[in-house]
Amino acid sequence: MTPRIIISLLLFTSTVLAASRTSPPSGALVVRAGTSTSGEYRNISAAVQALPNDSSSRSIFIYPGTYNEQVYITRSGPLTIYGYTSDTSSYRSNQVNIVASLSAQQAGSNDASGTLRIHKDNFKLYNVNVKNGYGAGTQAIAISQYGNKVGLYGCGFYGYQDTLLANQGTQVYLKGYIEGATDFIFGRQGLAYFGGNTIAVTGPGWVTASGRQSNDSGSYVFDGNTIVLGSNPAAGTSGKVYLGRPWDQYAKVVFKNTVITAPFNKAIWSVWHDDEQRIDHILFAEYNTTGSGVQGAARPSFATVLSASQAAQYTIGTAVGSDYASWVDASYV
Ligand SMILES: *[C@@H]1O[C@H](CO)[C@@H](O)[C@H](O)[C@H]1NC(C)=O
Ligand SMILES: *[C@@H]1O[C@H](CO)[C@@H](O)[C@H](O)[C@H]1NC(C)=O
Ligand SMILES: *[C@@H]1O[C@H](CO)[C@@H](O)[C@H](O)[C@H]1NC(C)=O
Ligand SMILES: *[C@@H]1O[C@H](CO)[C@@H](O)[C@H](O)[C@H]1NC(C)=O
Repeated sequence: MTPRIIISLLLFTSTVLAASRTSPPSGALVVRAGTSTSGEYRNISAAVQALPNDSSSRSIFIYPGTYNEQVYITRSGPLTIYGYTSDTSSYRSNQVNIVASLSAQQAGSNDASGTLRIHKDNFKLYNVNVKNGYGAGTQAIAISQYGNKVGLYGCGFYGYQDTLLANQGTQVYLKGYIEGATDFIFGRQGLAYFGGNTIAVTGPGWVTASGRQSNDSGSYVFDGNTIVLGSNPAAGTSGKVYLGRPWDQYAKVVFKNTVITAPFNKAIWSVWHDDEQRIDHILFAEYNTTGSGVQGAARPSFATVLSASQAAQYTIGTAVGSDYASWVDASYV
């Protein structure tokens, strides 16, 4: 074969491997920024409001663009929202951005500040970036999640303090991107599983702040994620990043098979405050953490390093329920 034919074959192969989604699936409502086409919606909220609030399964397809709005989803029946992308398998080619910039103080609560607020069961989101652009200073949520059987696939979540509120219900975050600095994956009763994500740290702080308040079924289980230093990190980030601190007494967080290149503090885990530590009932556990960011780690006594057999007890099934295969998109697991 000539080099040109070989190159053509390689290009063909990579195009085939990266599945694209560039047109609406049959039956989907269509959102397109600036559209004047009859039947299409100029923003996502308008499409969401157009859906019947009944038990039927519905979908929405969004063309590329930045949509400056908060999106609040409550309809009762199953809903799937698809973002336009040339590569469904990852967040990297996402072209749909939902952007708002409310702080919790301005909005009245953490949930009310969310750029995307999911208050429904049976919801899937594919290849959409969700951003809270408020910046540093106070709580400002990108995604506020309260539903059961909710899957977020190849999505990007961007914020600074409290980016991702996994507050209630069973939920999976797969092959996506999560960015922040302070307590940026947090919540109370969420049963959440995070797999194959890139987690980017942009300032000194804590990746998680579990606010579990009793020995309930909630936990945050992470498997196979990478924690990196984000672009333009705040000054003084190096040595001041931790996997988590306990927002409440029963915080429960497990990180398995994590590669950490962000420059962590050697303690890896943190108390809430020195004068209010909240460490008596927590589980802060790890298995097989590697990477340049955790060299020389010296964990405190309240951190747990799991054996292989102990780690095997924390799976997607134990995190979100043994029926997970009936609602999680297996192509992202
Ligand atoms: C969304 O579109 C609807 C209908 O065109 C409009 O009434 C509404 O103001 C828009 N919302 C935002 C947040 O742009
Ligand atoms: C849809 O119905 C549910 C109850 O079935 C209700 O809680 C929710 O507010 C309704 N949403 C809308 C947009 O009317
Ligand atoms: C929490 O509940 C589980 C069962 O759901 C039990 O196995 C465990 O011992 C309890 N832990 C504490 C600290 O009470
Ligand atoms: C440890 O984690 C790395 C990164 O996810 C993975 O490649 C490796 O197979 C894991 N090792 C074990 C023993 O599970």
